[in-house]
Amino acid sequence: MDKILVIGCAGQIGSELTLELRKMYGDSNVVAADIRQAGEDICQSGPFEIVNALETDKVAEVVKKYGITQIYHLAAILSGNAEKKPLPSWDINMKGLLGVLDIARELKLKRLFWPSSIAVFGPSTPTKNTPQQCVMDPNTVYGISKLAGERWIAYYNKRYGVDTRSVRYPGLISYKTEAGGGTTDYAVEIYYEAIKNHHYTCFLSEKTYLPMMFMPDAIKATIDIMQADADKLTVKESYNIGGMSFCPDDVFKSIKKQMPDFTIDYEPDFRQAIADSWPQSINDDQSKKDWNLSYVYDLDKMTEVMLKEVAKKFNK
Ligand code: SER
Repeated sequence: MDKILVIGCAGQIGSELTLELRKMYGDSNVVAADIRQAGEDICQSGPFEIVNALETDKVAEVVKKYGITQIYHLAAILSGNAEKKPLPSWDINMKGLLGVLDIARELKLKRLFWPSSIAVFGPSTPTKNTPQQCVMDPNTVYGISKLAGERWIAYYNKRYGVDTRSVRYPGLISYKTEAGGGTTDYAVEIYYEAIKNHHYTCFLSEKTYLPMMFMPDAIKATIDIMQADADKLTVKESYNIGGMSFCPDDVFKSIKKQMPDFTIDYEPDFRQAIADSWPQSINDDQSKKDWNLSYVYDLDKMTEVMLKEVAKKFNK
């Protein structure tokens, strides 16, 4: 019987993934953990622990207490915020992962999930249809930590047989929990501002194309890779997952179809340079081949759900 620990359960991904895992494995078999108090839905539906991912001893204690067999380690500082505090962000992103990898080795856990990101790519990477393997020269703290993390999970796999599964998430769009401090977050904010003010001032320029994915597709991809047969997984660092590719102007037009008075203007800030160093679209053929990656949502389908759900939140 699998017992699962989700570290970072209160974040954008964790708050949805935890509940999905509880549906699959049973509420009491999925332990949610975060450095801060999680929402009521998480705390009331199953076990919850306050855990600082940097305190490896405490994480190990929780693993032993519940007999954990699999960890989803999601706690991290995103690209925009990490640029404001480079060294502390490096510590959080790296130390947390190394601690969990070592727990997996020592306590012989069955499997780990750790997310990488399109931020592993950099200015010398081919920007369109970016291949699984190519030049990677990230120039953000977040991207450097993700690339280093990819090397560490491959190392722990080869040297100690630790089975870590990983995907390079594109920008993730969701309505349950807002992202915090990422470069792709405009694609979440724009829906909130559309509902609240019918206007959005975008921090990226009009034609900045980036790879993006709606949360239900990201959760499905995460669960699918964790359930794939180990011998089918040929990539030991992290798999490309592409989703869609769009720019702020595309989202604007998609919202405008449903909200004709919606307006937008553009005031690019420091995150423009980060976006410009990332791919515009991703080739994920390897994921489709190795573990049958598939998606449901395109931009218009996602816009429909986002506008409906965000409106519900604000009783509009
Ligand atoms: N969404 C992340 C960010 O913008 C990229 O993985 O930081």
